[in-house]
Amino acid sequence: MIRKCLFPVAGYGTRFLPATKAMPKEILPVVNKPLVQYGVEEASAAGISEFGFVTGRGKRAIEDHFDISFELEHQIAGSGKESLLTSIRDLIHNNTFAFTRQNEMKGLGHAILTGRNLMSDNPFAVILADDLCVVDEGEDSVLAQMVKLYNQFRCSIVAIMEVPEDQTHKYGVIAGESMKDGLYRVTDMVEKPAPKDAPSNLAIIGRYILTPDIFELLENTEPGKNGEIQITDALLAQAKAGCVLAYQFRGRRFDCGSIDGFVEATNYIYENVYKNNQ
Ligand code: UTP
Repeated sequence: MIRKCLFPVAGYGTRFLPATKAMPKEILPVVNKPLVQYGVEEASAAGISEFGFVTGRGKRAIEDHFDISFELEHQIAGSGKESLLTSIRDLIHNNTFAFTRQNEMKGLGHAILTGRNLMSDNPFAVILADDLCVVDEGEDSVLAQMVKLYNQFRCSIVAIMEVPEDQTHKYGVIAGESMKDGLYRVTDMVEKPAPKDAPSNLAIIGRYILTPDIFELLENTEPGKNGEIQITDALLAQAKAGCVLAYQFRGRRFDCGSIDGFVEATNYIYENVYKNNQ
């Protein structure tokens, strides 16, 4: 069973400055809900109930969001606005939230390693909240699809999607042997390759299931691209020693770490989710 999910949220979100000067990128609202809450809801729909966050300076708002605000509760108790808090109240009551800090930005791999004490020695999920994933009504959430696969194969899994060739430099890109429709056994992984060096157009997005041996591999991973400790380097070592799967998920992913993707997600959620719930 996958019971825990880690959210590395220590990044500075510089692409959104000045909005992210005093506010974490993960708290930016897509319509009426912070980005990070979409990720927690997706994991919760996959049966996960223990959440760990790797935060940093200036990220207090994330902790406050997943805690009760007594003044606010008191203020709106019994009013028509109470229903607006239902979704976050449900999350707070049914899950646990733990926080630790990454005090130096040494990359995603380092952030995941920093979360080790929150994940203990079990397989766990990782969500990068700036990738917002949506699925059709009645479909499993993207992470729920991956958890089902994990229960079958019991190894690390990365979510992938096809990207245009001129976009490979923004992602980790895999090469793999096809196992069945949309599922590959990873044979190679390259972090942010130029199109000519990309082993395919299958790019890793911000959804992972990792087996705990990843921590030791991360400890032995030297800084790679951009001087950061890259999760892709540790995953490649894991793939070579055993097995890592890459899964082409069903659903849509919005790159909310970029302005264009964020606006696209906002329009999509407004038209397809928010309006339907009014
Ligand atoms: P990004 O590089 O996309 O996010 O990292 P960023 O640094 O916050 O954004 P920009 O580029 O400055 O606008 C991907 C994810 O990994 C986390 C980030 O918080 C983000 O969710 N991350 C990255 C860490 O937690 N620690 C790191 O050292 C690096």
